Amino acid sequence: MTINPMSLSGKNIIVTGASSGIGLATSHLICALGGNVAMVSRNKEKLSVAQREMPEESSKAFSFDLRNTDKIPDLVSLIRAEFGPIGGLVHCAGDFAVRPLRSFDPKEYRDLYDLHVTAFFMLSKAVCTKKKRRSDRCFYRCRLICGCNIWFTGLSMYSSVKGALISAVRSLAAEYATKKIRFNCVCPGWVNTPMLDRIKALYPDLESFDLAITKRHLLGLGQPDDVSNSICFLLSDAARWITGTSVVLDGGYSL
Ligand SMILES: NC(=O)c1ccc[n+]([C@@H]2O[C@H](COP(=O)([O-])OP(=O)(O)OC[C@H]3O[C@@H](n4cnc5c(N)ncnc54)[C@H](OP(=O)(O)O)[C@@H]3O)[C@@H](O)[C@H]2O)c1
Repeated sequence: MTINPMSLSGKNIIVTGASSGIGLATSHLICALGGNVAMVSRNKEKLSVAQREMPEESSKAFSFDLRNTDKIPDLVSLIRAEFGPIGGLVHCAGDFAVRPLRSFDPKEYRDLYDLHVTAFFMLSKAVCTKKKRRSDRCFYRCRLICGCNIWFTGLSMYSSVKGALISAVRSLAAEYATKKIRFNCVCPGWVNTPMLDRIKALYPDLESFDLAITKRHLLGLGQPDDVSNSICFLLSDAARWITGTSVVLDGGYSL
């Protein structure tokens, strides 16, 4: 008999930011490990292109702007109606703003905070809320993961919302441990995704980008799979004793 401790067989998992980068790689791996994935992101066309690459029987696309935080309970209800009990949540949707303090913009900050933090709370609340129906009993074995990251000049707004997630996850892990619901963060260094392409475009040339970013990752820049492997490990029963942590994956950047 073959045992796969990372199996996600039969688990229904919500992945936000599923149309691109880390969220897309995570969606693929969840299906490869036997799970079903509810793929959430904003741009409908981009999402349906991404979903067409996935196994049809184990994935569904839900186009939704997560800054509409009041509507998140309806989104989760819709996903539950389509899939049944939710066994995990990966909040990968994200955006960034590069701004020095002198041009801090409260509206831009609120948008960033809503997408990263308020949406995470609302998704977690909807997923963790106990339902009376028998079919929802499996919520007790849920696992919730969000993406955070490193700190960088000009990224104070972005860093602060990620810091909020790290703190929230520690408290939520303590709050939900008795229900066997685990909360964890992954904190990647820079990963080759469309988001990094946008960061790269801010540098005057490739040489200065390599000096500031690439060369500081001793093992080279990350690939989306480097992060999705850890996310799926945390989603799986192999990580059943891990909660309230932030897993740093950065190819040696923080050394
Ligand atoms: N790439 C890195 O180097 C890196 C490093 C550390 C942490 N992270 C974090 O990892 C996560 C994934 O990043 P990535 O590099 O994979 O980014 P990405 O390739 O740019 O993908 C971002 C995803 O978020 C979705 N999204 C953005 N705004 C949204 C909104 N308002 N509502 C719903 N979905 C929205 C995008 O969908 P649409 O295109 O449809 O908007 C897309 O699917 C982010 O939280 C990011 O902060 C990334």
